[in-house]
Amino acid sequence: MISGLDDSIVTISHSGSAVAEQYRILCARVDRLSREHGYKTIALTSSVKGEGKTLTSVNLAFSMAKDLGKHVLLVEADFRNTSLTRLINRPKSKGFLDLLSNGTGIESARQLYLNDRLGIVTAGKVTPEALKLFASERTKEIIQEARKDYDYVFFDLPPILATADANIIAEWIDGVILVVRAGETPRDIVRKALAGSTKVIGVVLNDVKTYSSYYYYYNTK
Ligand SMILES: Nc1ncnc2c1ncn2[C@@H]1O[C@H](COP(=O)(O)OP(=O)(O)O)[C@@H](O)[C@H]1O
Ligand SMILES: [Mg+2]
Repeated sequence: MISGLDDSIVTISHSGSAVAEQYRILCARVDRLSREHGYKTIALTSSVKGEGKTLTSVNLAFSMAKDLGKHVLLVEADFRNTSLTRLINRPKSKGFLDLLSNGTGIESARQLYLNDRLGIVTAGKVTPEALKLFASERTKEIIQEARKDYDYVFFDLPPILATADANIIAEWIDGVILVVRAGETPRDIVRKALAGSTKVIGVVLNDVKTYSSYYYYYNTK
């Protein structure tokens, strides 16, 4: 166990479970695809909120570092819904927004895990300036800095249809993974999201009923 982490980070809390195994499979696929195409900086988004972006990105990041031994940075860039901050439970005082506003390096805002193979940067203090900062060239610089130091950099983005934020960084990153909640997100909404976003390299179907014992699973410990 790693102190502070929420139980829903099953790649750590229930690493022997069927759900953790699904994340390992996802991880291996993302790694293979990325090696084939040279993807390094990847953002996770979805059509609307609540589809599982944060849960998928955090489990993917932990699994990449733990099971594949990669050096990974996970950055929380959904400023309206900072659930990654809640899931890791012990955020640093500085976050992504501090990096954007004061020009300090990533080291000052990352929380380290798994013998320093995984760094997590939470959103930090959200101010009305957040989106303006996120859309600035400073984000591009941070992506370039991270690209040098990590095998993978994942961004937990806001949903695409609700806001334009998810597309802001599309030109600065290598690819986008779209998370779709099985049986919930209507097909036309997914189509609209796919049509509106560039660089989609893959789709994760989350909460497929065969594995939905997951919810039950992590709430009964
Ligand atoms: N496969 C799943 N099984 C059970 N609960 C899930 C699953 N995926 C997401 N959830 C739950 O749904 C809620 C929304 O997930 P979250 O990852 O925060 O979505 P998003 O980041 O897309 O808004 C959370 O409470 C999360 O624990
Ligand atoms: Mg989220």
